[in-house]
Amino acid sequence: MSVDTALQRQVRALREQIERHSYQYHVLDDPQVPDSEYDRLFRDLQALETEHPELITPDSPTQRVGAGPLDAFDEVRHSVPMLSLDNALTDQAMSDFDRRLRERLDRDGVIAYAAEPKLDGLAISLRYEDGVLVQAATRGDGTSGENVTHNVRTIAAVPLRLLGGDWPKVLEVRGEIFMPKQGFESLNERQRAQGAKTFANPRNAAAGSLRQLDPRITAERPLTLFCYGTGEIVDHPMTQTHSGNMALLKHWGLPVSPELAVVTGIDACAGYFEDIGRRRDTLAYDIDGVVFKVDSLADQVELGYVSRAPRWAIAHKFPAQEELTVVEAVEFQVGRTGAVTPVARLKPVFVGGVTVSNATLHNMDEVERKDVRVGDTVFVRRAGDVIPEVVRVLLERRPEHTEPVVLPGACPVCGSQVERLEDEAVARCSGGLFCAAQRKEALKHFASRRALDIEGLGDKLIDQLVDTGLVETPADLFGLTVDAVAGLERMGEKSAANLVDALDKARDTSLERFLYALGIREVGEATARSLARQFGKLDAVLAADEAALQQTPDVGPVVAQHLHTFFEQPHNREVLAQLRKADIHWPEHEPVAEPESLPFAGKTFVLTGTLSESRDKVKERLQGLGAKVTGSVSKKTDYVVAGTDAGSKLAKAEQLGVAVLDEQGLADLIAEVGTA
Ligand code: IVH
Repeated sequence: MSVDTALQRQVRALREQIERHSYQYHVLDDPQVPDSEYDRLFRDLQALETEHPELITPDSPTQRVGAGPLDAFDEVRHSVPMLSLDNALTDQAMSDFDRRLRERLDRDGVIAYAAEPKLDGLAISLRYEDGVLVQAATRGDGTSGENVTHNVRTIAAVPLRLLGGDWPKVLEVRGEIFMPKQGFESLNERQRAQGAKTFANPRNAAAGSLRQLDPRITAERPLTLFCYGTGEIVDHPMTQTHSGNMALLKHWGLPVSPELAVVTGIDACAGYFEDIGRRRDTLAYDIDGVVFKVDSLADQVELGYVSRAPRWAIAHKFPAQEELTVVEAVEFQVGRTGAVTPVARLKPVFVGGVTVSNATLHNMDEVERKDVRVGDTVFVRRAGDVIPEVVRVLLERRPEHTEPVVLPGACPVCGSQVERLEDEAVARCSGGLFCAAQRKEALKHFASRRALDIEGLGDKLIDQLVDTGLVETPADLFGLTVDAVAGLERMGEKSAANLVDALDKARDTSLERFLYALGIREVGEATARSLARQFGKLDAVLAADEAALQQTPDVGPVVAQHLHTFFEQPHNREVLAQLRKADIHWPEHEPVAEPESLPFAGKTFVLTGTLSESRDKVKERLQGLGAKVTGSVSKKTDYVVAGTDAGSKLAKAEQLGVAVLDEQGLADLIAEVGTA
């Protein structure tokens, strides 16, 4: 055996391993080796190729960034045109679509559709000849686009050659190139750090990154791909369905959306749309709707096309998440901790499915960075349940004579001085509990569901209680009488009596809820829970110095300092004493063992479906046993607790092979660890 052949074999083996790991990572989302191992194989291959350049082939994984920059993009004519999609914005439009198709196909029964998220990136056509990537082109006008092969080759999710050997002689694949949200955020951070221009959204970032003349720039951008169709195919029967073809693409190493599913009938389409809509924020990438395609390819042929869109497909779009509107005023709100937050009052606009008339501007740094002014036309974004925000100003529409927004020197509520520390973005009212706004916010927090959970004590009522001077501190709440409350606006005897009852019920609480309810800076539920577990008694928390506080998991120097400062204030000590006098009580215990020794330490649970108790209760119990309770199922989840009507999370658990418990199963498991 000659040395060369052994070398060639070694190079081939390395390339095959690299390609296989890349497939596990990008297509199956199931990496088999750590990144360091992949990097090692890659470096080994690079070293061999540097030593023996004659062994380099264009489809070697080391050759993703090929030659230097281009002067311009060539034009590519698409052998099969790249079409666009009709949109449906309502359920009605969707059922009209389904009815039209059933009439055209003369079908009494239901139609099976392949459903996939509509990705928000840009369309690409990849051409493989004899299994090797030879060309990548943008959609352009649908008939011809730009040759971006040099850039697409740098995208790690795009195989330079197909896996297996049963592929068509020519395979054109259509898909969407996009930038995941996280990659987009870090790209913008990098751009900002370098003083370069930032991108408005992941779609623009993907487009800007792909249309680079220098592939080295594209190579640094976190682009990826999902395939959703095919173009020209030579010498291969493929399958009878869209979903079957997508499975084939996946088998050949091309990434396909893991959300692809076949749904039968219009109700199932609506179910899929709702499910994805609910999960939209948890996906790693932006989507703007769902694409439904008739799954049967024979039916697709029968249905055909109208102008530039197929009759057999439709995009059911989510309501737009960004709209333009005008800033009518900028006001400042004072929060519980005194943070003075600028808020834009907007000309009402329908965005993300609701009418929005206020949007947060976060803090003065943001106002200055975005240079938002009264009179400006701005992009407002409302994604999911997130608070609406002003994304940026449309400078072309700025009227004449606008003024930059300035931070008020005095608190708009109590007139105390507003302070802005040098390295802090947040400005604060220095009035503390003298400031009615801070008092109100502190009380709202104290009464909220996850704190003392005082039913019927809503925001409006708290505003009145503070404005009339009936209540100043949380302890005052417990001195309220039916008579005093009944005298307030929109309050009858009955609701006053209910409130006094609710206050009475709230007296019986837990140490962790109580600590959380105090609204100490940076002490959220998790920290309050750790403190309660660590110290067991309120007096033990009060007696702890900063070093002792820092022994608590979750409590670092900053939180320890906030705690210490809070408990040091005579005013706060006084309120605590009054609360105890008002008989707010909770079970106390000796300091508990380290959380690592708790039975569910290191275990992650997800709760889904309807349980016989509230999810919060079950969550609290599990956390008490050391478990982490999260919102979404992944490979790291240990148990999914499924109540009735469990939906996608249950399906995901089954798909990933995560253990699923019903309520009885959970009770058994708790009993088991309890006796262990
Ligand atoms: S299918 C013949 N599927 O949406 C059907 N398109 O509005 C051609 N898009 O240009 C498109 N995700 O860039 C299809 N799962 C998906 C898609 C998708 C995003 C884009 C695509 C297309 C545009 C049409």
